[in-house]
Amino acid sequence: MADVWVELGEQSYPIYIGAGLLGRLGALVRDRLPETRRALLVTDSNVGPLYGETARAALEEAGIATSRVTVAAGEASKSLSQAFSLYTSCVRAELDRTSAIVALGGGVVGDLSGFVAATYMRGIPYVQVPTTLLAQVDSAVGGKTGVDLPQGKNLVGAFYQPSLVVADVETLKTLPRRELAAGMAEVVKYGVIRDEEFLKYVEVQVGNLLAHDPAALERVVQTSCRIKADVVAADPREKGLRAILNFGHTVGHALEAAYGYMWLHGECVAVGMVAAAIIARHSGIAEDGRLEVRLKRVLERLGLPTMLPEGVDPKDLGPYLRMDKKAKDGIIHWVMPVRAGEVIVTPKVAPDAIRWGLEALRR
Ligand code: NAD
Ligand code: GLY
Repeated sequence: MADVWVELGEQSYPIYIGAGLLGRLGALVRDRLPETRRALLVTDSNVGPLYGETARAALEEAGIATSRVTVAAGEASKSLSQAFSLYTSCVRAELDRTSAIVALGGGVVGDLSGFVAATYMRGIPYVQVPTTLLAQVDSAVGGKTGVDLPQGKNLVGAFYQPSLVVADVETLKTLPRRELAAGMAEVVKYGVIRDEEFLKYVEVQVGNLLAHDPAALERVVQTSCRIKADVVAADPREKGLRAILNFGHTVGHALEAAYGYMWLHGECVAVGMVAAAIIARHSGIAEDGRLEVRLKRVLERLGLPTMLPEGVDPKDLGPYLRMDKKAKDGIIHWVMPVRAGEVIVTPKVAPDAIRWGLEALRR
């Protein structure tokens, strides 16, 4: 039984979530991809030594001959040159159209491996085995794959859904606390966009979540995946509703472009969500200031930033905001909270409200 099902017709797939699932990886893949006899296991230099052998052994035990390849940890591996090297590994491992690529790692390994799977032999199956919280609640689900160009992140890619996702929450025990907190920013996002009760749960469980409590982690991964699965099922190629997943990302991406060398994606999204809440209040979209207060409180307790980096002038973000990939004809479509659990997407946000929102983030 899957824990969450992503309903996309012929491209539907299960997400399995639990503690200790890595040892059952082979059986789960075998169940879902009965023709698969060969796999390329892609991991990174941090995750490989921790979990590579368990994953490889589980696949082999299920009768899947597995070659393993390790890329350097970090965003720099999400490149066309790394993809080229993986195509060579696919050929060497004699993968055919029934073989699978298994992505064991965070969003970097998942996006890169998914892109290689989407393009090698015009598409072979792939399996997401996310090991960061961000990957378990976000990047492993929904089929966005891709690599970066020197000109910008994720500029080359494809929508290509995995055959299954296996999220073992036990792997999060070795995740550095800063990475765990950054993943929690996306979890908070799901509460704000769709589910006020879930936001409440996260507020109550902050301590347990940061202490890696498996039951609390399982619940947040499961609910986050359910919300993302519902949104993706309704709008797989981001023609409309899926844009709500970008709550906090307009200012977040601008911060990431400007300060990504010192802040993680989730940290930028945390500040971006606070900015969006303030802008929504100044635009008369938010019904009151309560969400803003709640957001700041929960993000601070998670150890996430809620203000701009020291000494940064909000005006410096202007050019980066205009570069937002989600802008249509140069007009930014903002995801604005009305209240906890409900957002709207609108281009109608007064420039004054944006200025106010950004000024309020200055230290
Ligand atoms: P990441 O893959 O770089 O992982 C973060 C760090 O944690 C790395 O150093 C990694 O080696 C290490 N790590 C991973 N799992 C670990 C574990 N269990 N124990 C110890 N260390 C571990 O980063 P990320 O935050 O997972 O993902 C970021 C990437 O995801 C970005 O490239 C971003 O563009 C992409 N992304 C994609 C989507 C999507 O929908 N496809 C959504 C959001 C983000
Ligand atoms: N991370 C946003 C999306 O998958 O659409």
